[in-house]
Amino acid sequence: MGKSSKDKRDAYYRLAKEEGWRARSAYKLLQLDEEFHLFNNVTRVVDLCAAPGSWSQVLSRVLIKGEKFGRAGWEEKQADVRRYVLGDKNSNATSTEKKTDEKAQETTQPKSRDDVRIVAIDLQPMSPLEGVTCLRADITHPSTIPLLLKALDPASDPSSTPTPTNSVDLVISDGAPDVTGLHDLDIYIQSQLLFAALNLALCVLKPGGKFVAKIFRGKDVDLLLAQLKIVFKRVRVAKPRSSRASSIEAFVVCEDFCPPAGFTASLEKPVGVSTMLNDIQSPIIPRTQPGRKVRDDGGVEIELGSEDEDEEDDENSQSDPEKRGIRWIAPFLACGDLSAYDSDATYHLPKDRVSLDPVQPPTAPPYKRALEMRKLAGGAYGKTKLQE
Ligand SMILES: C[S@@+](CC[C@H](N)C(=O)[O-])C[C@H]1O[C@@H](n2cnc3c(N)ncnc32)[C@H](O)[C@@H]1O
Repeated sequence: MGKSSKDKRDAYYRLAKEEGWRARSAYKLLQLDEEFHLFNNVTRVVDLCAAPGSWSQVLSRVLIKGEKFGRAGWEEKQADVRRYVLGDKNSNATSTEKKTDEKAQETTQPKSRDDVRIVAIDLQPMSPLEGVTCLRADITHPSTIPLLLKALDPASDPSSTPTPTNSVDLVISDGAPDVTGLHDLDIYIQSQLLFAALNLALCVLKPGGKFVAKIFRGKDVDLLLAQLKIVFKRVRVAKPRSSRASSIEAFVVCEDFCPPAGFTASLEKPVGVSTMLNDIQSPIIPRTQPGRKVRDDGGVEIELGSEDEDEEDDENSQSDPEKRGIRWIAPFLACGDLSAYDSDATYHLPKDRVSLDPVQPPTAPPYKRALEMRKLAGGAYGKTKLQE
């Protein structure tokens, strides 16, 4: 697909380039924030699976630079126009007056803050961003937790064993595996990324903190949501307007982190499908769990039972979450202004429109080697050089 054809078919792809975002995903976070006010009273944030970095860009621009977007940005502009019409010199709407009055500028320009800490993690390298500490690491690997704790608290003693510190207001995760097209496999890998993200969140979130993560709405997503409900007071699922309706992607928005009494996040024993059900006393999930056997080699076998067996054999009905009463339907919200672009629609472009290059080309795409080989063989990046 050519650049301008993609511009036509994906309004958010085009808009992201025009507005300087590294990826169209920026609009998903902005639209989620519009609905849930995710950034209110937030100073410490962890952005998981962050590359190429559009969510971190949003964090940096909103939290550090104090910029406003979407409805909030529009309302601020309207208020400014009103102030200008009413003759207030401090209004942003007057460009010439404003320049001569530095004090006035101070009151109306977004205030940048230096008490904000943002840590971004991804498997891929990320180009630097103002005020963001970027780590290249695998969120499913236990060694990432100490790295994250160190990045959050650089003054901590490197020789001591890192322990969870509950100091973070918000953990966000847009993690997605390289989709195979095999739906069940993709959903499974996505849920593993979600558990890895949740495990990191449990180690760093402060009580009352928030956790936002991408989910794929597969068959057993309600079981997963019920598990999140154990540690968060409010769990909702949202679909931003910039996320295509045709995609099974959605975002779980968990608010008010309140781990049950006696629960402590453990770096050695990460939560997962079985440990979580086993170890946490939940008001909505009984203490039953799928059969779990630790083998001599340390591997863990989990018996999930098959659906057929569940129907036939009453005893096995314990392995069916629905029969055990642990299914829980999370409220579902569509978010983003209705007048915003429809991500599934194709829009006409003006004739004189120039197609822009992406703001941040991928730093280490999987096809990088192929491009390098092509260049060596006389072709150029993206185009084949004409023979003289
Ligand atoms: C959809 S992209 C994230 C886009 C990002 N939120 C943004 O706004 O630019 C998904 C990212 O998940 C990352 N990812 C997948 N598995 C991961 C893992 N195990 N650990 C860390 N990052 C991972 C990928 O490298 C990829 O960059």
